[in-house]
Amino acid sequence: MTSAVEAFVPAVRGVRHVWRRIARSLAELMPTGLYARSLIIIIAPVVLLQAFVAFVLMEEHFRTVTARLSAAVVADISAIVDILETYPQDAKYTRIVRLARENLGLNIAVLPRGPLPAPRSKPFFSLLDSTLSREITRRIGRPFWIDTVGRSNLVEIRIQLDDHLLRVFARRSQTYASNSVIFISWMVGTSLVLLAIAITFLRNQIRPIITLANAVDDFGKGRPVHDFGPRGAREVRRATVAFQDMRRRVERQIEQRTAMLAGVSHDLRTILTRFRLQLALLGDSPDIDALKKDVDDMNRMLEGYLAFARGDAGEAATPTDIDVMLREIDKEIRVAGHEPRVTFAGDPIVKLRPQGFKRCLVNLVHNACRHGNKVAVTGRHENGHLVIAVEDDGPGVPREEYEAIFKPFYRLDAARNLDESGTGLGLSIARDVARSHGGDIVLDESPLGGLKATVTVPA
Ligand SMILES: Nc1ncnc2c1ncn2[C@@H]1O[C@H](COP(=O)(O)OP(=O)(O)OP(=O)(O)O)[C@@H](O)[C@H]1O
Ligand SMILES: [Mg+2]
Repeated sequence: MTSAVEAFVPAVRGVRHVWRRIARSLAELMPTGLYARSLIIIIAPVVLLQAFVAFVLMEEHFRTVTARLSAAVVADISAIVDILETYPQDAKYTRIVRLARENLGLNIAVLPRGPLPAPRSKPFFSLLDSTLSREITRRIGRPFWIDTVGRSNLVEIRIQLDDHLLRVFARRSQTYASNSVIFISWMVGTSLVLLAIAITFLRNQIRPIITLANAVDDFGKGRPVHDFGPRGAREVRRATVAFQDMRRRVERQIEQRTAMLAGVSHDLRTILTRFRLQLALLGDSPDIDALKKDVDDMNRMLEGYLAFARGDAGEAATPTDIDVMLREIDKEIRVAGHEPRVTFAGDPIVKLRPQGFKRCLVNLVHNACRHGNKVAVTGRHENGHLVIAVEDDGPGVPREEYEAIFKPFYRLDAARNLDESGTGLGLSIARDVARSHGGDIVLDESPLGGLKATVTVPA
């Protein structure tokens, strides 16, 4: 019992393995689009069924009709043979020849007795040849010779009689039910009509799915989403309604977050302004200067929080000249006292949210300026992507910190004892912007020696 089970298990596993490989290669052969797939699912079974039914039914039908037609022709020939052998004929057999031509549609000739030609090689699959031969043997029972292949629309039959040789030409259509061309044309024609109907209906079903996919894509990349009503099949309508609900909820949440942070920052800034005024009235002393610097830092941090909360929501994507934007950044870097190397290649016009995107680049450039002396910004637009790398010759970041420094408020500078105060939000904001454009930022080591931050967005 156990050994039977033990033998059975590998066999099942083998079958399953083979099945999986077949399924995988089938899946590779299948077209990937829903449109083409649905067409195959609808059309393939219908055409297969049609072909199968046609083959089985028509094969049977052809066989019966051919047998009947051959039998009728052979019966006529048999009657002629009887008449020839029973009744006296005129010297040239004119009456019987006329009778056969006019009444039976057969072209006959009565020749002097002689040997039959050598049998022709039979066609490989000939329904007519075999049916006709069988009928002649059965009804007439004399030596005969037939040619069903020679001339296309005639069938030649020669029968050896006691004193003569009877040669008969019958029309092929008299003996053979061959309308397969018409039949196949009908089959192909109806399949095409079926295909046309299926395409029309399928297009209407698939269009809402494509609309929904485009809307989800746009929303994910922060582009404006046009309102569109649910259309198509029930399931697609449900997906559309669910997406619209989700979009409204997400938008509401973002609005709430922004409003709250803006409120808090505004209130705090008012108090800070009051602080600064009071400090100004107190006059100058090292302590007061230190306090002023703290107040300035707090102000800058608040600006940072506000920018983070605001994200780039509300800004519309417009065609923007990246070359011009990089030149502005170049100027900013020079003002900060560095020698930048800024290059750009490819089509400079890209559709994105200019303020958000510039904030993303400026945050990266600020980091590079803060940590390094040489700063290089290399941009290129090709193969549907805008790629901008910001590099510096600073100390860089250990690889294991690459993910961590993207977290809000996460800073390495405190540990490095850099007294410049940052909020630790720069990279979070930059990545937010890149992702809301459908792209991302990746970090690497720069050939200059410091950090290389590469922004990639589809464009
Ligand atoms: N180019 C760089 N070279 C070395 N370290 C870097 C570089 N860029 C970022 N870092 C490290 O990553 C940390 C996080 O950077 P992020 O820009 O998010 O914050 P920040 O620069 O400290 O503050 P903020 O940008 O908000 O003023 C920084 O504190 C710094 O330690
Ligand atoms: Mg920064």
